[in-house]
Amino acid sequence: MRVVWLTRFGGPEVLVAGEAPDPVPGPGQALVAVQFAGVTFIETVFRAGAPGPFTGQPPLVPGNGVGGLVAAVGPGVDPGLVGRRVVSGTGGSGGYAEQAAVDAAGMVEVPPPLAMDAATALLADGRTATMLVRAAALRPGDRVLVEAAAGGVGTLLVQLARTAGARVVAAAGGPQKLRLPAELGAEFTVDYTRPDWPQWTRDAVGGLDAVFDGVGGGIGRSAFELLEPGGRMLRYGFASGTWCQIGEQEAAQRGVALIQPRPAPEQLREYTAGALGEAAAGRLRPVIGQRYPLEQAAAAHAAIESRATVGKSLLVV
Ligand SMILES: NC(=O)c1ccc[n+]([C@@H]2O[C@H](COP(=O)([O-])OP(=O)(O)OC[C@H]3O[C@@H](n4cnc5c(N)ncnc54)[C@H](OP(=O)(O)O)[C@@H]3O)[C@@H](O)[C@H]2O)c1
Repeated sequence: MRVVWLTRFGGPEVLVAGEAPDPVPGPGQALVAVQFAGVTFIETVFRAGAPGPFTGQPPLVPGNGVGGLVAAVGPGVDPGLVGRRVVSGTGGSGGYAEQAAVDAAGMVEVPPPLAMDAATALLADGRTATMLVRAAALRPGDRVLVEAAAGGVGTLLVQLARTAGARVVAAAGGPQKLRLPAELGAEFTVDYTRPDWPQWTRDAVGGLDAVFDGVGGGIGRSAFELLEPGGRMLRYGFASGTWCQIGEQEAAQRGVALIQPRPAPEQLREYTAGALGEAAAGRLRPVIGQRYPLEQAAAAHAAIESRATVGKSLLVV
């Protein structure tokens, strides 16, 4: 089958199109004929060889999420699943490929009105955004800051927070990235490449009740400082290169809760199903900003790393 290999850790050029033997589904697994593979920011971190959630040594086929049709099942799996439209995580690798053997118990069936590309776009980002918004326990009127608000997770956070009745401040890097979150329901937009962005935010909404920090570093720190007593700080990423450093004691003194959800696998599956359900009902719109042929995975990674993307990036298989 056609795949993309991670030949060694390094820049985007280490992703090289090639061939690999067809996977055979083992006990408890299903074989997915992949139509779309998602590309996430954290996959660029793994490719570069930096620490993160994925493990494994090259050469390997990277890719943590796919959407497609169940083509076959392994021992102990219901043969009635063959032909179903599903999205699934891969356990960290194997997604940039024509076929992927996945844990059958982790697959999520795609509701009929939802297109496969939309469902694949929601798999990781929808799961993460749903998890974060639920953990934040948003109330109507809460003032919420979403960082990287034009990105994969960010565009979904804007919408889910808005649906929860929150007042959303969407923050992103550069004026050209602010139109999209505004269209998706953000009340205010702010360019955090401007040094005065924290004051601008304070002038707009006073203080904040919740921060979704996927950027970390100085931007996460400035956002934390805008939180009022009773506020919630959700740190879920370090796109700037470093996590936002805040001590428990410092947060407690400010009356701010530090929230970092640690969901069980079954909960993750439920969050994905929740996001697909919201999209099928027309209440959540995945934004697919970039599509690349499978063989151009390197271009997808280069674009994400250079902050040139909006919404989700998909590989079309
Ligand atoms: N996708 C998931 O399911 C998932 C799960 C857990 C955690 N996360 C975390 O959530 C964050 C967003 O992930 P995503 O996959 O949705 O990616 P994304 O937001 O689509 O892309 C990353 C964005 O981060 C911002 N950024 C800020 N500083 C950057 C820098 N120095 N280099 C590159 N980008 C920078 C850029 O937006 P601006 O130009 O607007 O700043 C960029 O577009 C990441 O920190 C990721 O690790 C994601």
